[in-house]
Order: sequence, then C-alpha cells, then structure tokens
Amino acid sequence: MVILKRAILRLLKEFRPEYVSGEDICKKFNVTRTAVWKHIQALREDGYEIEARPRAGYSLVSVPDRLYAEEILDGLNSKFFGHEVYYYDSVSSTNDVAKELALQGARDGSLVVAEEQTGGKGRLGREWYSPKYKDIKFSLLLYPPVNPSEASQVTMVTAVAMALAVRKKTGVPAGIKWPNDLLVEGRKICGILTEMSAELDKINYLVVGAGLNVNQELADFPEEVRDIATSLKVEKGVELARVSLLQAILEEYEQWYMLWLEQGFSVILAKWKELSVSLHCPVRIHTLNKSWEGWAEDVDADGALLLRLPDGGLQRLIAGDVSLRV
Ligand code: BTN
Repeated sequence: MVILKRAILRLLKEFRPEYVSGEDICKKFNVTRTAVWKHIQALREDGYEIEARPRAGYSLVSVPDRLYAEEILDGLNSKFFGHEVYYYDSVSSTNDVAKELALQGARDGSLVVAEEQTGGKGRLGREWYSPKYKDIKFSLLLYPPVNPSEASQVTMVTAVAMALAVRKKTGVPAGIKWPNDLLVEGRKICGILTEMSAELDKINYLVVGAGLNVNQELADFPEEVRDIATSLKVEKGVELARVSLLQAILEEYEQWYMLWLEQGFSVILAKWKELSVSLHCPVRIHTLNKSWEGWAEDVDADGALLLRLPDGGLQRLIAGDVSLRV
C-alpha cells in the first residue's frame, strides 16, 4: 500500500538521523511488524538507504536522487505548480501523458516527470533523447485564461523562469536563444516544447514540456549533438541534486507565470530580452523551407523574431532554428 509506505518514509524523515523503533511504527499505523518490514524493503528498493538496528529500529541514512512525487512535494514552496505530481520511471513522452491527463480533467499546474522517455519529442518534429536518471524532464499542465494567439508567450515565460532558476540555483550563466533554447557558452542545456489544445477563442489546455541537461557527461549525448550540447555537471564539474533544482524551477516558474497573468507580457518580454543571447547579433536562421541570414534586431510582442536582412528589409519569423554566426 503506497500510502503506508509514504507515511513510514515521512516518519523516518521526521526523526532523521534518529532511529524509530519497529514497535512504534506498528503502533502508530496499527500494522504488523511484517508489514512494516515489507515497506522498509520497498523503500530500500526505491533507493532509500535505511539502517536497521536490533532494539533501536530504523533510521533513514540517505535519499536517492529520484524525482519521486514525495521528494518533489517535500519542501516545495509553490501555490499550485507541482501540487499534483505524476511520476514515471519510464514513459513515452511526458507531454503526451500530460495531454491525456488534461482530457481527464487534471488540475491546473499538474506536473508530469519521467526518468526516461521512450518517445521524447523535440521542436519541429524532432526526437528528444536523454539518458535515464541524469536530467530533468517534465511537463506542466496549464489552463491559462488567455486567447490562443497568446499561447506562445507562455513558452517565453518558461524560458525566462528556467534561465533564472538555473542561474540562481547553480550560478551557471544560462541565456536564451530564440525562440526558447537555453544555452551556456553557445551550447544547448535546455529545450522547451509547448503543445496546445484550443478552440478559436479559448485555450482548452497548454502542456509545456522541458528537458534540462543536469548530470550528463559529454559522452552521454548522442554523437551528433556532442559538440553543441552541455549539462550543468559539465559546466560546474560536480553532480547536482535534481529534486531541489526542479523545486527551484517550479517556484520561479510560478512567480513569472502569475506575473504574466496579472501584468501582461511586456514585463516578461523585457526580461526575456535581457536574458537573450541571440539578439543584436548576426544570425543564420533555418526555417522549414528556407534559410535566412541577417541581424537579429528585435522580438515583437508575439515573440516573433525581427530579422534585418542584408538588403535592409525586415523579415518577421515565427519559427525556426537559429545559428549564431561568429
Ligand atoms: C527542443 O529543444 O526541441 C524541445 C525539447 C523538449 C523536450 C522535453 S523533455 C519533456 C517533454 N516531453 C517531451 O516529449 N518533450 C519535452
């Protein structure tokens, strides 16, 4: 029974590093010693290190770096982001799960996390691959009360919040490359994919998915992206705790999301521009059927890139891949 397992874990955390006797656990939850032992074993299988001593009982020694719901919720300081967590060891795509949850009426701010995706999706129909237990892959389900034409703004809110959370929590100077990649020293550290279900004048739901490279080594990246990707571990030289990083992201993200709903897009756009590493510089842009070169002059109120062409004209682009020309 998952509820009892969680309750025992909470008790062990509360008393950590002290021991809690088997008898006390039995009495508290009105269960047998065998039941307690079974749940302790199950927690150990989940990666919790629990010491057992005759007469003293059980003591929690360490917590695994897994994105378990109970770990994310433990100390999460948000109003509704991540209050409902759906955790998967392996799943096709967290975005797809979040979309199914939306159809079942899951609540605003529901969070889907997975240690592994077998069908991870990137922008422009690409695949998104990342190794198990090393990064943070999540999707957030949102029901913003805005017009569908404003949906792309949420992706920009996400990029701003992710960049700031990474900076604050790790000191790694993540910047934003249009439209919504996070880069560190020119190498990609995070990608965002937003999917929407909408009617003409109403958003049914938004699913914002993000993949942040945390503890990968360079060798963990597929060969084709090894030269253009990085992770926080590569940048800092140390392994990072993923749970507290995800909590920081959710807290930062909620603040910027609420600010956007309350005060509108201009404050977000200003911050987005401040964090941008692909504005006011020469760029090459690949769209589905054409490549452009020019000067990245500005981003407009819809998040479209305004590219100054060599002939002096201004081209407005709503999607594409930017290469920074050096
Ligand atoms: C990109 O840069 O192309 C966007 C990548 C987005 C990847 C994340 S990982 C979690 C979520 N689930 C998916 O299938 N994709 C997004």
